[in-house]
Amino acid sequence: MILMKDIVREGAQVLRDKAVEVNMPVDEETKNELKLMMEYLHNSVDEALADKYKLRAGVGLAAPQVGISKRMFVISITDGEKVVFEACFINPKIISYSDECAYLAGGEGCLSVDRKVKGYVYRPRRTKVQCLMYDIEKDTVEEKVIVLKDYLSIVFNHEFDHLNGILFVDRINKKDPFYIKPNSIEI
Ligand code: NI
Repeated sequence: MILMKDIVREGAQVLRDKAVEVNMPVDEETKNELKLMMEYLHNSVDEALADKYKLRAGVGLAAPQVGISKRMFVISITDGEKVVFEACFINPKIISYSDECAYLAGGEGCLSVDRKVKGYVYRPRRTKVQCLMYDIEKDTVEEKVIVLKDYLSIVFNHEFDHLNGILFVDRINKKDPFYIKPNSIEI
């Protein structure tokens, strides 16, 4: 089980490296890494477990954040008890994205960044993605093309950045952190 001590923090080189593509077919070791990463997200939003193990809640976790330099990440977004979106992304590629941007009113956070960094992070409001998706339940890997919108597009792009050594803090306007970009909407 992944704990906060296993999560790599800002300053570590692995968070700045460009992660390496996952080889096909996806091996058992890689599948297990994805399972553990997804388990962390589930545990982190389970009140009892999060309290017991002192887990910080997260909606996404990229492999470099657990010290694995592979192009893969997991996303799990829940609304109360209900899962809104959940997937394991392997070797994602951005096919296209909208000029229109979206940003979180409260700014972004990251399990690898312990300090509170204020400011808006602009992400494409729509992102078309090609990737392999690992289905943990079915134990299958399928190639998919999907369009992600609004909050999901923000989360996807945040995780995708981790594969290229970019942290959300890098994307905040240093001179004017709350600068409002034209053609953008607040989420
Ligand atoms: Ni992050």
